[in-house]
Amino acid sequence: MAVKIAVLPGDGIGPEIVREAVKVLDVLNSHFALEASYEEASIGGAGFEADGNPYPDATKKLAHASDAVLLGAVGGPQWEGLEKPLRPEAGLLGIREDLGLFANYRPTKVHSQLLDASTLKPEVIDGVDILVVRELVSGIYFGQPRGIEIVDGERRGYNTMAYRESEVRRIARKAFEAARLRSNRVCSVEKANVLEVSELWRSVVVELHQSEFSDVELSHLYVDNAAMQLIRNPKQFDVIVTGNLFGDILSDEASMLTGSIGMLPSASIGEQFAMYEPIHGSAPDIAGQDVANPLATILSVAMMLRFSLARADLAEKVELAVEQVLDSGLRTADLNFAGETPVSCSAMGSAVCAALEALA
Ligand code: IPM
Ligand code: MG
Repeated sequence: MAVKIAVLPGDGIGPEIVREAVKVLDVLNSHFALEASYEEASIGGAGFEADGNPYPDATKKLAHASDAVLLGAVGGPQWEGLEKPLRPEAGLLGIREDLGLFANYRPTKVHSQLLDASTLKPEVIDGVDILVVRELVSGIYFGQPRGIEIVDGERRGYNTMAYRESEVRRIARKAFEAARLRSNRVCSVEKANVLEVSELWRSVVVELHQSEFSDVELSHLYVDNAAMQLIRNPKQFDVIVTGNLFGDILSDEASMLTGSIGMLPSASIGEQFAMYEPIHGSAPDIAGQDVANPLATILSVAMMLRFSLARADLAEKVELAVEQVLDSGLRTADLNFAGETPVSCSAMGSAVCAALEALA
């Protein structure tokens, strides 16, 4: 069955890492009979440069007409002075909202070959396998009112953290469903000791658990404690479900258990659409140097194959190819702690492609 993928490289290292992911898709087409076609469009700072809009209409149209979206990264210092709706981040938040991508899956799996790449002790992280399920289109990122106003002659900035119970229920449902396919444990993270929005979050999660998911083990942590527990004993976690802001913070923290944020893929899923992107940013400091790690983007393709293209068989092949390349000792600069010569972004991508071809 032919599938269409919208490819949105974005800014900074986005184009380099996406190029490697597309090379992997090419191998899946040529050697594994995946019938994927791709079309590129701009987003973020690139969207602003091309169209004056970080989420151009043409990109929106393409995303709506595709089976899945593959995104690199957005952002860069040259756009920081723009007004908020024109900044690259507004493009990313815009596409998430427009496509209704409420469920953001961020798996953190420690690759045994990379145990030494983490700043934590190997025995603490060996075997870590956590899935952060982050609510992505509501909460304080989108809540109204928001702004900066003048009060008593000084500026006052404010945002609103708000969740409707239906929004909590749908993300909690995704977390419980995911847990059933893993180790069957969900930890819901909020700040119910202080915030009303979290009090509601917790009661909705408890209600859903009692009515439909009582077979899943449910626990609750305040976000400050969760941040601490992630470092103290990360193996206690299976699925973590949390709101937009807490999920943003905890998923970056969880990523460092693996040694490099350059390894972590993500999937953002809605009722109708899905988008796949590495969880790291655009890394403008190393952009254009062919030194970035493309594995998070390549592993995002694996998530796409599994969730959007119904090709779990090919997802496994891509993941296996990545493992084999790591086994062979290849490391991009972010993973290279032994002092060997790191490989380039394109060499890493080519190595995964070669490993994949050998699996055909
Ligand atoms: C992420 C990023 C984004 C977010 C930024 C770039 C807007 O940090 O995907 O985690 O905060 O969601
Ligand atoms: Mg983030």
